[in-house]
Amino acid sequence: MDISAKNQELTSILSNVLVLGVFEDDKNLNAAQKKVDDTLNGLISEQLIKKEGFKAKFADSVTVHTQLKIPSDKLMLVGLGKKKEFDSTKLTELTSKIIKQLDKTLGAKNVSFELLGIDSKNMDVEQCAYSTAVGILVGMYDYDKYKSKKSTPQIKKIRIATDNIKDEKAAKSGVNNAKIICSAMDFTKDLINEPAQNATPEAIAEIAKNFSEDLGLTFKVYNKKQLQQMNFNAFLAVGQGSEREPKFIHLTYKPNKPKKKIVLIGKGITFDSGGLDIKPANSMLTMKTDMSGCATVLGVIQAIAAHKPDIEVHALSALCENMPSGTSYKQGDVLTAKNGKTIEVDNTDAEGRLTLADVLTYADELDADEVIDIATLTGACIVALGQNITGIMGNNPDMIKRIIKKGKESGENLWELPIYDDMQEMLKSDIADMRNTGSRFAGASVAGRFLQNFTKSKNWAHIDIAGTAFIDKPYRELNKGASAVMVRTLTNYIMSL
Ligand code: BES
Ligand code: MN
Ligand code: ZN
Repeated sequence: MDISAKNQELTSILSNVLVLGVFEDDKNLNAAQKKVDDTLNGLISEQLIKKEGFKAKFADSVTVHTQLKIPSDKLMLVGLGKKKEFDSTKLTELTSKIIKQLDKTLGAKNVSFELLGIDSKNMDVEQCAYSTAVGILVGMYDYDKYKSKKSTPQIKKIRIATDNIKDEKAAKSGVNNAKIICSAMDFTKDLINEPAQNATPEAIAEIAKNFSEDLGLTFKVYNKKQLQQMNFNAFLAVGQGSEREPKFIHLTYKPNKPKKKIVLIGKGITFDSGGLDIKPANSMLTMKTDMSGCATVLGVIQAIAAHKPDIEVHALSALCENMPSGTSYKQGDVLTAKNGKTIEVDNTDAEGRLTLADVLTYADELDADEVIDIATLTGACIVALGQNITGIMGNNPDMIKRIIKKGKESGENLWELPIYDDMQEMLKSDIADMRNTGSRFAGASVAGRFLQNFTKSKNWAHIDIAGTAFIDKPYRELNKGASAVMVRTLTNYIMSL
């Protein structure tokens, strides 16, 4: 599917369907639409809006033949909803919905969009083109790798039309940025969707190695023996019940003169059975997605490698399976984490925090300005915030605020959960420095409090995507399944530093 922006009159574009939008509370046509309307003898203003009473409610649409009075065969009039509410998030949601209609219902091969959203005055040309293209690309995502019948889109060509050369440049740049972020998101979704039988620690390390070479990133991988020497004991304990060797991967994007250094850490449990505290079948069903944090940081560093900011970015992930077997770690075991603190294993299903603990300590050695970990960490976070809001916590309120703000601008919702020092009480162990779980209460925050024991960074944030990484129902522009949530937020956050 080829998307591009071009400076061209709507009345001269040759396509199967030309898409125009009007607001529910302002159905006056803009100058470009008026030209189309005049050429079509008032088809839009008189026929569709006045006679048929098109309401222009958000994402409503009506499609009519143009009788070839303009080069496009059909015209689709789309409702943009209320003008004041229309922003980049709405635009992205809109084009995700519209593109499916164009592709599946209308079977169009070649479509053109006027530059939607520009009349709302909430966005500039670049943002309009970006949001339009993101909606289209995200909306068309489908995981068909293992289906005999592929869902190849009908649509081959999409054009976003602008009306002057300066706008064309801005729109092209918006489309280009959309392609970068959506290719990262597609990568992340594919990796999350990949069954655990194939997305093994070794296979993911190999994938990361391959794209690192292509993108000029530094890649390092550590095997079990090396990790033993590096004292990744908490991590290795989690992986010891599995037949598959654990791997720790470290990717680096390093510009010539970095002004900042950021470390991203992604939870990389390639399958979470719960271990000896085995999960009920229903809860285990989607646990191939427990490496979503890893897939996210790999997606982000790809987008960063394309944008080439003056920021050094590290992506770290400790990859292993959490399995029950004769060699599994056990309830009551005491692990000595990489930083020397001892942990009594209270529950083998609270494995993510154990793997992250050692990686956070490893990250200390990199002496970064900021450390952000992202993990499908707790069911408690899903209970608290649901599937469409991501939890965030940490030790720097200002940093958290800035990430939440970038999330909002990126169309992704985050909500801060508290970490109190005295939550350490809940992690008290009789025989070790702490245990790996608390009670049933405040589960997401207590997990955050646990992680805090293993970082020295004063600028640390922990993002819990247990609810949002893989969704049961479509949400805004997202289809159900892997969402690649936080790829946009974290990329935009790093680009804004
Ligand atoms: N990977 C799970 C968390 C999870 C649950 C992610 C549902 C996505 C969907 C994590 O390893 C886990 O099992 N957490 C336990 C912790 C508990 C034992 C303290 C949980 O939340 O139940
Ligand atoms: Mn678990
Ligand atoms: Zn897990």
